[in-house]
Amino acid sequence: MMRAAVILAAGMGTRMKSATPKVLHAVAGYPILGHVIKAMRGAGCARVVVVTSPDGQAVRDFARDVDAESVVQDRQLGTGHAAASAGGLLKDFAGEVVICYGDMPLMLPQTIAASFAARERAALSIVAFRSHSTAYGRVIRGENDLLDRIVEYRDANAQERKVDLCNAGILCAEAKSFFRWAGALENDNAQREYYLTDVPRLAKAEGKRTAVVVADEAEMLGVNSRRELAEAEAAMQRRLRASALDAGVGMQAPDTVYFSHDTLLEPDCRIGPYVVFGAGVTVRGGAEIKAFSHLEGAEVRAGAIVGPYARLRPGTVIGEDAHIGNFVEVKKSRIGKGTKANHLAYLGDAEVGAGANIGAGTITCNYDGFDKHETRIGDGAFIGSDTALVAPLTVGDGAYVGAGSVVIKDVAANALAVTRAEQREVAGWVEKFRARKKAEKEKKS
Ligand code: UD1
Ligand code: MG
Repeated sequence: MMRAAVILAAGMGTRMKSATPKVLHAVAGYPILGHVIKAMRGAGCARVVVVTSPDGQAVRDFARDVDAESVVQDRQLGTGHAAASAGGLLKDFAGEVVICYGDMPLMLPQTIAASFAARERAALSIVAFRSHSTAYGRVIRGENDLLDRIVEYRDANAQERKVDLCNAGILCAEAKSFFRWAGALENDNAQREYYLTDVPRLAKAEGKRTAVVVADEAEMLGVNSRRELAEAEAAMQRRLRASALDAGVGMQAPDTVYFSHDTLLEPDCRIGPYVVFGAGVTVRGGAEIKAFSHLEGAEVRAGAIVGPYARLRPGTVIGEDAHIGNFVEVKKSRIGKGTKANHLAYLGDAEVGAGANIGAGTITCNYDGFDKHETRIGDGAFIGSDTALVAPLTVGDGAYVGAGSVVIKDVAANALAVTRAEQREVAGWVEKFRARKKAEKEKKS
């Protein structure tokens, strides 16, 4: 059966105290809503509809960027009303639909898939978890562990409040029936809201039952505040570290390594303590990232060693067996096989060949205040320490550049370029200087 998802994200998220809509705050470098959409797609949802508030243009833009649809809920009249507002797009959808919230970044696709699968036992299904928190509606089960009812905590009596099975807010049903029920909801409750949780009751009146899938509370964390965002981040990092270790990544101190949602580490690469991955990093097997390095938008090929204290910025490829050492920054550059830049250098917009040596203090001067320019350094070239390479510039294969040079013209293959001023030596100068200074000092005192 075809599957669709409706993600409720029209809430204000006022407790975040942020101009950014709540669901666009990042967990592991990716918006919370993006994690939810990924989970829905992972559970086989071909269509994803995000319910947004009228001022949620940024949320709609994000949805569009990830090929999801969106609708506007004009007024926030409750979760049932929000779900119903997706009816315009999905009421004739000839498949099943899952409704969930946009602020649960830890939700796993397997849980959503299990919720769909539970519809083999009953027409509807919901997801529940164990908690004593007063924030959640209580799930009351009846015969065969099927759902009897969901009671919002506010509306619950003393006995219902003691129940520790809570409603996660995820509901699966056949789409056409769901939107018929959602359209028939009423708001006679403590909050005068249209509750999604009343849908199982309307279904029951037609003889349709609701199955209850019990999931792990950790997955159900909803982000409402900066504190909860930090908790979600910590949980996501634990999950990413564990899956990297399971995939054969060597980490001496995994708790100190920070991942992006898309970090790709091949088996048998090694990651030292306190390494931070921004978006879009791939580290191939056999490569090593040493402590305190920061990588973003970069690929590190087999056998390469990066760090300690290295910074790789977007558009960078570090070739096989290359070495990028301490306090070396590489931006939008390709570093060839076996090339070494071991200390204190900046390589930006550069194409460096294989087997080259980049001395300490080498700087590619790639920016003139208006445009960025490229530097090409050939195979086997040797760039002496403290060299400024003023781009656009080409240093040919096998060429040498003498230490301390400011190179503004191309250097031919196998040539030596050196721009340093000539050295002078004044014999005995220091003795005379000291004597003069000493005399001046004695005169003053
Ligand atoms: C809801 C459930 C409760 C459950 C809890 C789990 C109902 C009535 N209650 O309560 O049983 O235990 O979630 O977290 O469903 N939203 C809209 N439009 C609206 C109202 C809400 O899009 O008009 C969105 C919000 O952005 C939010 C989600 O729906 O992401 C949940 O709304 P919220 O008001 O937080 O529901 P709860 O009271 O927490
Ligand atoms: Mg809530």
